[in-house]
Amino acid sequence: MALPANPPAHSTYLRPSKGTRRLTLLEKRQRRLVRLFFRSFLPIVALGYAFVNLQEMSLYVESLLPDPPAGSWRVPPPDCTPSAPGSGAAPGSGAAPGSGAAPGSGAAPGSVAVVTGANSGLGLATSRHMSLMGHGLVVLGCRSVDRCLAAKATLDAERAHLCGDVESNVAVLDVPLDLEDLQAVEAWSRSLSKRTSHVSHLFLNAGIMSVPVSPRNPQTGLDPQLHTNHLAHYHLTALLLPALKKSPIAARVVTTSSLAAQAPFAFDLQDLNFTARPSADSLKAYSQSKRANLLFAHGLQLRLGKHGIASLAAHPGYSRTSLFANNWHFLPEALSFVKEWAQTNPIGSMSSEEGALMQVRAAVDLRVTGGSYVSPLLKAVGAPVVALGGEGRSPMLENIWSWVGFGQAWSDEDVEQFMDWSEGISGLRIE
Ligand SMILES: NC(=O)c1ccc[n+]([C@@H]2O[C@H](COP(=O)([O-])OP(=O)(O)OC[C@H]3O[C@@H](n4cnc5c(N)ncnc54)[C@H](OP(=O)(O)O)[C@@H]3O)[C@@H](O)[C@H]2O)c1
Repeated sequence: MALPANPPAHSTYLRPSKGTRRLTLLEKRQRRLVRLFFRSFLPIVALGYAFVNLQEMSLYVESLLPDPPAGSWRVPPPDCTPSAPGSGAAPGSGAAPGSGAAPGSGAAPGSVAVVTGANSGLGLATSRHMSLMGHGLVVLGCRSVDRCLAAKATLDAERAHLCGDVESNVAVLDVPLDLEDLQAVEAWSRSLSKRTSHVSHLFLNAGIMSVPVSPRNPQTGLDPQLHTNHLAHYHLTALLLPALKKSPIAARVVTTSSLAAQAPFAFDLQDLNFTARPSADSLKAYSQSKRANLLFAHGLQLRLGKHGIASLAAHPGYSRTSLFANNWHFLPEALSFVKEWAQTNPIGSMSSEEGALMQVRAAVDLRVTGGSYVSPLLKAVGAPVVALGGEGRSPMLENIWSWVGFGQAWSDEDVEQFMDWSEGISGLRIE
């Protein structure tokens, strides 16, 4: 086709095509960098990540198969069968064959589950999963009785929607479970003992994140995060020990930790209350309290395994809960919108129902043995997979950073020392 004799000034005919225009030196460098990123850096990182997570990846792929082999797990479907707490199923009994429940659901009729921090986020979602799976009784522990009652009303309505006119399997006690106050914890466990003689599933879930290390808790003198996230849960577990031992099904204690537990050098066994260390910030204190959760979970397994009680740990990756908006005190006021964003950001995060699956699997999948650590497949998000420790090592004591050399190694002796330290403050022994 012949070109027009006088093409208009704006005509594309006169514009040099992209291919023929000479690139400036800066543009050439930019392009080279982008190429380098996609051709070299990205594949190396992806391969490294896949290599580190190979075992977990294969478990996940297995879980997608129509007939899941041992090792994979799916959340059991709702079970509307009325079940009375204390009816006493055989120890370790899982779902009955042909009941429709997923293998290893552990929804035994005699089960009594206790959840701390049950009124919101992962605690509420965990209570929902346990209630819908048909566990005998789910006892909500909250620091506000009113918030607890509101949570119960929500859970009852959801179960009634699915199951019709069934008796509620969710209970709220008449006293608050405020972990800041060890006497309130004692009053709550006394109230629980009037309601049930045994506990089969204990979820140590409640937590605060990145609040200032001072003022210290007036009762224990500890930084608030170590007090609430660890010490008060130690105290509660010690108080509920007789009820755990009486459980007709093998009792399981699940401690909620965090990816933050893996931050290197946050936990100092010789200076747990930040008196000798030059810096004590709220983030470091959160990491320390979440590492304390792991050491405690391992210590519990060492001490209670012989009684047939299994202790497991779970971390929920990044779940969209009020943990961020209610806490994260290190952010200045001007950046408080980041907290709201973190609570709602849909990218690379999970809903609280998805995040709670880690601790739910740890509690009900009877093939996951005591001492295991359940985490999301891709660390922040993903299906619940069982983290594997190195040869002869507990996954709870392993530090992810150890493979790049920044790790702190923990031994059983360290864990025993930590348990003794906790006992010294709580005044109660776990054995
Ligand atoms: N969300 C995540 O991405 C994430 C990641 C890693 C680990 N975690 C862990 O998951 C657990 C649950 O957090 P979440 O994300 O579900 O946050 P959340 O929605 O803020 O829930 C925290 C729960 O703990 C309760 N709580 C706080 N202080 C308490 C106290 N002194 N006594 C009794 N209960 C207390 C809260 O009660 P109120 O409602 O009364 O404040 C609330 O019910 C925490 O241990 C947290 O460290 C969460």
